[in-house]
Amino acid sequence: MKCFHYFKDKSNRSQRSEPILKNTSSLNNSSSVSAAERVIKSSGSTSSPRGIPEMYEEKAVNLRVFTYSELKQATNDFSRLLKIGEGGFGSVYKGTIKPVAGKGEGIEVAIKQLNRDGFQGHKQWVAEVQFLGVVEHSNLVKLIGYCAVDGERGIQRLLVYEFMPNKSLEDHLFSKAYTTLSWPKRLQIVLGAAQGLAYLHEELEVQVIFRDFKASNVLLDEDFMPKLSDFGLAREGPTGEHTHVSTEVMGTFGYAAPDYIETGHLTSKSDVWSFGVVLYEMLTGRRSLERNRPKSEQQLLEWIKRYPADSKKFGMIMDPRLETKYSLTAAQKIAKLADSCLVKSAKNRPLMSQVVESLKQIIQVSGEGSPFSKKIEFTDCEEVELADKQKNQGVSDSAKRRIAHLAKLSEHVGGISKRGFMLMQRAKVT
Ligand SMILES: Nc1ncnc2c1ncn2[C@@H]1O[C@H](COP(=O)(O)OP(=O)(O)OP(=O)(O)O)[C@@H](O)[C@H]1O
Ligand SMILES: [Mg+2]
Repeated sequence: MKCFHYFKDKSNRSQRSEPILKNTSSLNNSSSVSAAERVIKSSGSTSSPRGIPEMYEEKAVNLRVFTYSELKQATNDFSRLLKIGEGGFGSVYKGTIKPVAGKGEGIEVAIKQLNRDGFQGHKQWVAEVQFLGVVEHSNLVKLIGYCAVDGERGIQRLLVYEFMPNKSLEDHLFSKAYTTLSWPKRLQIVLGAAQGLAYLHEELEVQVIFRDFKASNVLLDEDFMPKLSDFGLAREGPTGEHTHVSTEVMGTFGYAAPDYIETGHLTSKSDVWSFGVVLYEMLTGRRSLERNRPKSEQQLLEWIKRYPADSKKFGMIMDPRLETKYSLTAAQKIAKLADSCLVKSAKNRPLMSQVVESLKQIIQVSGEGSPFSKKIEFTDCEEVELADKQKNQGVSDSAKRRIAHLAKLSEHVGGISKRGFMLMQRAKVT
């Protein structure tokens, strides 16, 4: 199968993220199936007894379906004043929705509106609804609901998330507009993000590969606890004898694993590589690619090689904004951990659960855990309880309607695909 490469190059961005889809109104034949269909078509995923779509049927009982006018009202007619971000999917607005019962205070939410001309966005929208309808973890952003309307004036696809008031890790690491992220907060954030990935890789009935792990997809709540967002590129991992799933190459330049870019073979270890990149971004306060630096410093992973973790020079890579308010020993250990995530051979990279353990140890030994220990040591018991409760409730009639609705929308994606558009090709990391 021919592989089309779809990549987001963030290297020439100044401070903020730009939309991924802005050049991708052209669409791809080979990727033109619904999230559910893609999973089945991928080599390595066929023997899964239950896939995400089936799990979605069982679990997505709490997703709300909004009308377009409800969301229009929630965002003051998508007022520019309420626009809080722009990514590849489209624009993100802050909004206020009514509680389910209709009474009581409004709930603050983030509403993502799909670029109307982006088929890739539409496909990602379906994937995002399905994956986020199934997963549940304190380090993953919650999807509250969605809106899908196919009207005379085109299609409308929106996602409604819990509101994350402290922007993203990207904003805090790289933008001078924010106060410096302290060392303990950085540790708390990378640990939480690692726990989110470990849950996706190792704690669900099916393995989920996030595929687009990067600083801008780590959102921060009021306590700076991290939550992963953007499941549009997520995929089910390999099952049974299979070692990988074969996919069109997708992700973001500077974060995607080189073995994945070369072969299109996706494994959870691709996420581990991306995690290693973010660890170095956290240590250095530099983006993985920065075109406005001297040539030898533009690629973070190349530049840091000159300052190995166990060398005397190591301290020179540390983010100057941290001044001296960090533990050098802990930083060195984190750099070594990052190096292990960034080894060439994917199978030699650690599991995310091992990364979590290492980070916990580093935090504990360096004494950084204490101010955050309550927040860092998550127990997932409450969530398990909640999940069980939902399971016992069974699938309500309205949930069934939602599932049927989503299935219909997925068919629609298939329909669009037959028109045979192509995705842009751009796969080489420069
Ligand atoms: N749930 C949320 N709560 C608060 N703000 C959010 C939420 N989701 C997204 N945002 C804001 O919108 C911005 C854009 O998000 P989006 O995921 O669309 O793009 P991105 O992550 O910057 O880029 P990419 O499309 O490459 O992932 C985020 O950086 C964040 O500031
Ligand atoms: Mg994002």
